[in-house]
Amino acid sequence: MKEKPWSGRFSKETDSLVERFSESVSVDKRLYCEDIEGSIAHAQMLCRAGILTEKETESIIEGLNSIRKDIEEGAFLFDQALEDVHMNIEAELTERIGEAGKKLHTARSRNDQVATDFRMYVRGCLAEMCRALKAIMESLVEQADRHVDTIVPGMTHLQHAQPVSLAHHLLAYVEMFFRDYSRIVDTVKRLNESPLGSAALAGTPHAIDREMTAAALGFDRPCRNSMDAVSDRDFALEAVFDASIIMMHLSRMAEEIIIWNSSPFSFIDLEDAFCTGSSIMPQKKNPDVAELVRGKVGGVYGNLVALMTMMKALPLAYNRDMQEDKPPVIASMDTALSCLEVMRGLVAGLKVNSEALSESLNRGFITATDVADYLVEKGVSFREAHHITGEMVASLIRQGRTLSDLTLEEFRSFSASFDEGILSVLSVERSVDRRRSFGGTARDKVRKALGDARERLETLGKNC
Ligand code: ARG
Repeated sequence: MKEKPWSGRFSKETDSLVERFSESVSVDKRLYCEDIEGSIAHAQMLCRAGILTEKETESIIEGLNSIRKDIEEGAFLFDQALEDVHMNIEAELTERIGEAGKKLHTARSRNDQVATDFRMYVRGCLAEMCRALKAIMESLVEQADRHVDTIVPGMTHLQHAQPVSLAHHLLAYVEMFFRDYSRIVDTVKRLNESPLGSAALAGTPHAIDREMTAAALGFDRPCRNSMDAVSDRDFALEAVFDASIIMMHLSRMAEEIIIWNSSPFSFIDLEDAFCTGSSIMPQKKNPDVAELVRGKVGGVYGNLVALMTMMKALPLAYNRDMQEDKPPVIASMDTALSCLEVMRGLVAGLKVNSEALSESLNRGFITATDVADYLVEKGVSFREAHHITGEMVASLIRQGRTLSDLTLEEFRSFSASFDEGILSVLSVERSVDRRRSFGGTARDKVRKALGDARERLETLGKNC
């Protein structure tokens, strides 16, 4: 068994209960790659500073690379007695290369080491998330391209409101994901400062070059204050918040897919490959993927609250509480990423059921606002027009009829301002195409918005 790096101060073995309780390697082994990269950059900097010889540095780098290889091949045994990924790798390095391994920890502490590793890890997850956001936006744009002319009932309060182009509806989600993307880019700007070299909390007397390690590890600059550097977890919080909003957006989309796929609606069909069946009811094809996405939101929100609460009132600088940051962050990153990926697949394979859609559009007085707007064009005030149309709807509901069943005479019985033009006002296509205000659903506007979205998508990826 390898000796604990800090064993010098202790005269008794750690209780096995405490070892099991305080270990984090079962989770933070996910940071092995960042840990090794960070150590290589640190060793190279120590060499430049004359603290390590070329030979020692070479053997450290070689040793670390061989450890990385073993971890990747599943041949590395992580030991919980060595607490975390950092001490596991360092102890193994010393085992493999001897004395030089013991010099690697000069001018650094696990406090700046873990903060550096974790920033790099979260930065990598956020880059993945950006790629997944771009992919789902591309699938939404592709579907939107197919469905500019597909008219669907736009809803408020889950009731028929006004007809809209399905492309317009899908592009609403594209806007949400654009915001999610830019939120991540913004998070990364603040995250991208290197804690390495802050040591335990106060900096180090060794003549280190923090700019050098920061640049080698892809950071924009070193963190400015050593105490803040080792005890800041804002980047982790922001990342989980970013994931939470992504999950919220995905859950809205998932909910709509579930509703549109439900038997009473049947607006869409989902691909078999993205649905699952029932063990008892042979006819079932369930939208479980969308339901699971909806269900997983709670976990990510919970992680955000757990993390906020863990950081609350922590005195400067490092406290062991902060080890509890990894499980909620890693789980949130994994969940948001897999939900984005699976929802992209669901969106890409979505088929529209036009019959159910046109049947639905005949219900719910969906062009009632157009009738009121028509009266306004004839000189009636909007409030009066709203009232007249409301009376018409109430009377039609009593009779079990709809607006398109009305003759011109019947229209005129509600207001003399109606003339034959009213009969064409009831078409959903006309209703959609008249909404030409900026950001509106008119099909020529939607085509333009689609083109804009494509262009904006092309510029993504430059800064994340
Ligand atoms: N495993 C710890 C963490 O994840 C890092 C080590 C710092 N530990 C310490 N006792 N100073 O936060």
